[in-house]
Amino acid sequence: MNQHDSTDLRTRIAAALETSRRRTLGLTDCLDEDGLKAQHSPLMSPLVWDLAHIGNQEELWLVRDAGGRAAIRPDLDHLYDAFQHPRADRPALPLLDPEPARGYLRQVREQALEVLDGTALDPDGPPLLAEGFVFGMIAQHEQQHDETMLATHQLRQGPAVLDAPAPPAAPADAAALPTEVLVPAGPFTMGTSTDPWALDNERPAHTVELPGYWLDTTPVTNAAYQEFIADGGYRDPRWWTPAGLRHREQAGLSAPLFWQLDGDTWLRRRFGRTEPVPGDEPVVHVCWYEADAYARWAGRRLPSEAEWEKAARLDPATGRSRRYPWGDQEPTAEHANLGQRHLQPAPAGSYPLGSAPSGARQLIGDVWEWTGSDFAPYPGFNAFPYKEYSEVFFGPDYKVLRGGAFGVDPVACRGTFRNWDYPIRRQIFSGFRTARDAAPSELG
Ligand code: AVJ
Ligand code: FE
Repeated sequence: MNQHDSTDLRTRIAAALETSRRRTLGLTDCLDEDGLKAQHSPLMSPLVWDLAHIGNQEELWLVRDAGGRAAIRPDLDHLYDAFQHPRADRPALPLLDPEPARGYLRQVREQALEVLDGTALDPDGPPLLAEGFVFGMIAQHEQQHDETMLATHQLRQGPAVLDAPAPPAAPADAAALPTEVLVPAGPFTMGTSTDPWALDNERPAHTVELPGYWLDTTPVTNAAYQEFIADGGYRDPRWWTPAGLRHREQAGLSAPLFWQLDGDTWLRRRFGRTEPVPGDEPVVHVCWYEADAYARWAGRRLPSEAEWEKAARLDPATGRSRRYPWGDQEPTAEHANLGQRHLQPAPAGSYPLGSAPSGARQLIGDVWEWTGSDFAPYPGFNAFPYKEYSEVFFGPDYKVLRGGAFGVDPVACRGTFRNWDYPIRRQIFSGFRTARDAAPSELG
């Protein structure tokens, strides 16, 4: 790497760290001490836990590991180790109060930036430092917690404290889009071995051969989902797997989380405000069982994770897998609804510049999309740099989500990025689109 590239890389890293910190503070400075220390849902940590956990991970990886420096607050390690304390137990821990937590974050960041200045980031250096991997990992980690904190805000009761402009109206052609697009049979490269900040579960690149399939052009909308509800979809056992049925009954599911019926109008609560459910937006806050049941009701199925990634990355003109549906350029506000710029999904059919070659839209941004796949390692997977990021979650308990949501920062979103959660979870910004096998006669 020449001097110019390395200066440029350091500038990009510092900017990514700064962006994540601004967001972290924006999500926490808006609440008072009680609001930060309260547990707004047993599913979530108190925000003050996320806050200091962000700093503790940065201390562990940037100050101690990359920097080889002495520990700043070794006494905090056990409090902010996610594996030692389940979320429900965190409010009872002797956590740092908000002001000391903010001070700790500043102290860690100051040292992390010194480490950044003094560390070689050559591509052929140690893997943790090559092309700034560990700095990228920590910027992504903070942004992932910023999304988690946004979900905590959505669960919080009380007056609204967050605000953002609505996304732009749907483009003129949105209403006339075909409902589904064809992805022809053939191989594609899934995952990556070269994206410098890709996390361990995205690696390595490998070839996957798929039969032809049809994929929804956009995520399933609230209007379409309301038809499923109105048709008795929640009550009809034909659409549910046995586990889905059990969960539906036990949890009393009858509509997406945060929805309520007012007469015959569906309303939703969104970041402290109640409003009519907009029919043209992608549905959000559904669990995997609901997505799976909807797909069966529609005579379709969820796409596999490989189907999702092929539609999002393969450029049929070159046979190459790209970073995003539109190419390799970083997302802008014209490509995708990311980065908490808006606090809701954009109408289905938005972002024509973000289209995939197949014509599918909104694969990146708006809502996380449930896939039919369990979270599993790719062939040749190596846990890096720690087993607790991905490896301990592999197996049939978790389903994969793809594409990122409006709350996700671009640094933590790309065509290869993999998210996962339990099939019952719906406090996350989760939606879906559906697929079906292509008949031989449809493949031309
Ligand atoms: C990848 C979103 C499932 O929040 O549990 C944050 C990300 N890992 N801190 C999570 C993560 C460690 C992770 N997800
Ligand atoms: Fe974490």
